[in-house]
This record gives sequence, structure tokens and C-alpha cells, in this order.
Amino acid sequence: MLKDQQTLTITNLTDVDSAEIPGQDVIAGLSSNPRYLSPKYFYDEKGSQLFEQICQQPEYYPTRTEASILKASGGAIAHVTGPCEIVELGSGSSTKTRILLDAYQLAGHPLRYLPIDVSDTMLKETAEKLLKEYPQISVHALAGTYESALQVLPKKQLPARIIVFLGSTIGNLTPGECNDFLAYVSQILEVGDYFLLGLDLQKEIAVLEDAYNDTQGVTAAFNLNMLRHLNQRFNGNFNIEKFSHAAHYNKQKNQIEMYLESAVAQSVRLETLDLTVEFEAGDRILSEISRKFDIADMTRALASHQLNVVKAFTDQQQWFGLLLCQRI
Ligand code: TRP
Repeated sequence: MLKDQQTLTITNLTDVDSAEIPGQDVIAGLSSNPRYLSPKYFYDEKGSQLFEQICQQPEYYPTRTEASILKASGGAIAHVTGPCEIVELGSGSSTKTRILLDAYQLAGHPLRYLPIDVSDTMLKETAEKLLKEYPQISVHALAGTYESALQVLPKKQLPARIIVFLGSTIGNLTPGECNDFLAYVSQILEVGDYFLLGLDLQKEIAVLEDAYNDTQGVTAAFNLNMLRHLNQRFNGNFNIEKFSHAAHYNKQKNQIEMYLESAVAQSVRLETLDLTVEFEAGDRILSEISRKFDIADMTRALASHQLNVVKAFTDQQQWFGLLLCQRI
């Protein structure tokens, strides 16, 4: 039941997004040298669960560090932006967003939240919980990719809008993709609107590598789950026991690289795609990159897209950064 001021709208764009022929990217990635797979195949139901678990691992510092920065800076952010509707890219379970919503509520600002995520079940569950927790909130959830959802954002109902992109997810884009993405965000925002960006920062290599090699093996399970997902989607026969998880830091590129490594020589078949892939022992598939940033460099990159950093927040160890930018 909705309270008086509350509204809930859910726009589903997943049909629009799946218009392309499924699996073409898998064929391209597994046939190329070096081999790669699109990170989107991480996120089936099981994968989304495992990801929530990664965020709770002691070695995985980004989630709790970003949450602590948000707690300390939420008031300042709400003060700078004034009443502002919150658009979140990759909202997931919106755990960290609640910190921001609390800050806006405390500042006496109206609450309008537009979460965007590829998982429509996750969106629905989260929206319903938020409506229970925030009596004043209005939620308009958009199920789809960032691009398709940003394209159809409803008309602004508050004086300003802030696009929130947390978790250093921007680090999962290549430099070229990152540049296109910033251009797109800049184009969607009106002059005076805001962009809040979470960034994992460069630091000691051991700390970085441990974050992607947790001792419980959750990240390994998450990575390997991609192969299980592909089996299911494309009638495949990846033997998960004959692959292993490998994650290491590439110093030249300032990025963690995550691979699925074949333990033996083997041939894998994806029936629906009519694709056979031959692996030698030690052959690897790149499944994710996670770039690590420098605040000054990113500030310059943002500026080249009319995104002016008004405030940079970080933690004591300077492990993670939160940049509040304004579209100029
Ligand atoms: N944006 C997160 C990161 O790059 C996502 C992430 C964390 C992740 N651990 C992962 C992605 C393991 C793939 C595999 O840190």
C-alpha cells in the first residue's frame, strides 16, 4: 500500500535491450585473441547473490570504505545540491543509497529516487522496501541498461538531478568506454545538475590483489559462475572444475585483471551458438578489468566533459574517493 505522498512507477526496458541477436558477443569474445567475455554474463540470479557476498568479504574494502565516506559526506552533498532527484546507475540492493537518502531526508529535502538496474526482480524488491522505509519517497525504477534507461528518463520533478554511480563500477569500463560513458552522462545532465562518482584509488598492490582473491573463494565462485551461466544460456558444456579463477594487478595499466584459466587442454562446445572453442592448458579468458584511479587524473577527464568537481571526499587511508561534480 502506498502512503499519500508516495508514488511507484516501474519502466521495463529489458525487451528493448534484448533486441540484438543473443550471444554474438560471446562468439566474438571467445574467438578473439586474447579471449574475453562480457562482464554482463556475471549477473544471473546466482551471480547477483554472489556479488552481494563479495561486498561483505573482509578483503573487499571498497564497499565498506565507500559507505563510510558516504556517511561522513552525505550531509555536505545534500547541502551542495539542495533538493535534487537521485538517479542511480546499477542500484542493486540500494544499500549504500540509503545513506544518501537518509542525508537528504535529514536536510529536509523531498525524496525522489530513480534506480536503474538490469535486474527487474531486484529493482522491484528494493523499491517496495524503500517505500516502507521512507514515508515521503517517490520511486521511479527503470529496468534496463544505463544507456536505454537514461534515454527515457522522465521529466525532472525537482529543481535538480544527481546521477549517482557508486562502487567504482566505472573502473570496469576500458578507457575508451569510460570516455564515451562520461560524454553520455554529460549529455543527459542539464547545466547545474550533478554527478556523484565512486572511485577505487591506486594503492599498495597486495591490498588490491587480496580484494579480488578473498580467502573464502567467493570472488572465485563468482567468476566461475559466469561459465555455468553460459552453459545454461547457450546449452554449453564448460566443465567448471577444469577452470580456475585468477586475478592480478597490471601495473602499467593500473588495473586488476580477472581471468578464467583452463587447467587442461580441452574443447568446449556452446550448442546454441554452434561454437566450439579449443583451450590449451593455461589458456585464459579475460572476464573483467577493474581500473584503479588517481583523483587528479579523473578530475581532468571529468572536466573535459563539462563535469566540474565541486568536492572530492575520501577516507583516512585515501583508499577510495567520492567525487561530487556539477555539469557546467
Ligand atoms: N566494481 C567492482 C570492482 O571492480 C565489481 C567487482 C568486485 C567485481 N569484485 C569483482 C567484478 C569480481 C567482477 C569480479 O571492484
